[in-house]
Amino acid sequence: VSELFVSAPGKAILHGEHAVVHGKVALAVSLNLRTYLRLETSTTGKVCINLPNIDTFFCWDVSELKQLITYSHVMRAVFKFLCMKRSLVFTLCFIFSELPSLTVSVWSELPTGAGLGSSAAYSVCLAAALLSASGAIPTPLKEWDHTGRWCQEDLELINSWAFQGETIIHGNPSGVDNAVGTWGGMLRFLAGKIIPLNRVPLLRILLTNTKVPRSTKVLVARVKDKINKFPSIMTPVLDSVDAISCTCEKVLSEMTCEPITGEHYNILEELIDINQHHLNVMGVGHPTLDTLCQVTRTRGLHSKLTGAGGGGCGITLLRPETDYSVVQSTVQDLRDCGFDCWETSIGGPG
Ligand code: PMV
Repeated sequence: VSELFVSAPGKAILHGEHAVVHGKVALAVSLNLRTYLRLETSTTGKVCINLPNIDTFFCWDVSELKQLITYSHVMRAVFKFLCMKRSLVFTLCFIFSELPSLTVSVWSELPTGAGLGSSAAYSVCLAAALLSASGAIPTPLKEWDHTGRWCQEDLELINSWAFQGETIIHGNPSGVDNAVGTWGGMLRFLAGKIIPLNRVPLLRILLTNTKVPRSTKVLVARVKDKINKFPSIMTPVLDSVDAISCTCEKVLSEMTCEPITGEHYNILEELIDINQHHLNVMGVGHPTLDTLCQVTRTRGLHSKLTGAGGGGCGITLLRPETDYSVVQSTVQDLRDCGFDCWETSIGGPG
């Protein structure tokens, strides 16, 4: 190929954050804010990376790069994956063959460092583009919704390579973010097992970034301390979150096979409210997230934090009939609070 485009979505957690760390179900969904990647092959003898969002462009000579990667942690990640696949011959070919000259351009609609899977979306794009360019999987037709063109095996290959990218960026990722970026839609995550759910409805949401920085590690430790301190109080809370995720999954699946009614949305809204209370009980709320819930509540909308909490991002469910003017004024109110806010959707393609 001389040029190809790919893209991958970000992720949000619909229900089950924190509870998932303690063996409960979580539902992760694709976010219709995407990262895009264009790969162009050239004859310059260089590998170039172009990041227009942050005005960055840099190049290496192919020979220089080859030395670099042979001894780097990138190479260790490659080895790890290839050994897993028991493909020593492929590994040796990779090391001793010529690297192609190419330019990779990446741009994104996702804010970084907000728990929305921006690094995974990047890793998925890079894996898909390089696998396509090397002929390991078919070349994509469009820059989104490749899922029709790629079979399960292709997607699994993309996901495995993207996971290796995530290990380089994050050290010890759970694998959920790259799986959502690869398959899109909704994934059920339980005890380290990730199951893509075939059909989910596309739901309109507002995504709000409170811009309050938080550490997932610190918040996970905080919840663990609370569980250790009050096991008989916190265990039912975790069980309840588990039941919320399972109920939500059931409602969403009903919405794909029967006419969608107001009652479906009533249940989804109530689940959001209950879970937000539970997350406050776990100690991962934040005054900015309370503000988000209050502001949206005055417009009849329901919100919860998504991801680690303690600031970070929140989601607000919109009904199909929610008026454009209501959305616009809510977005404006939230921006007036100092937050970033977008109307987007969840459940779209990988
Ligand atoms: O760091 P985030 O915002 O993607 O959220 C992590 C989700 C947690 O359940 C809090 C932690 C985890 O590893 O599942």
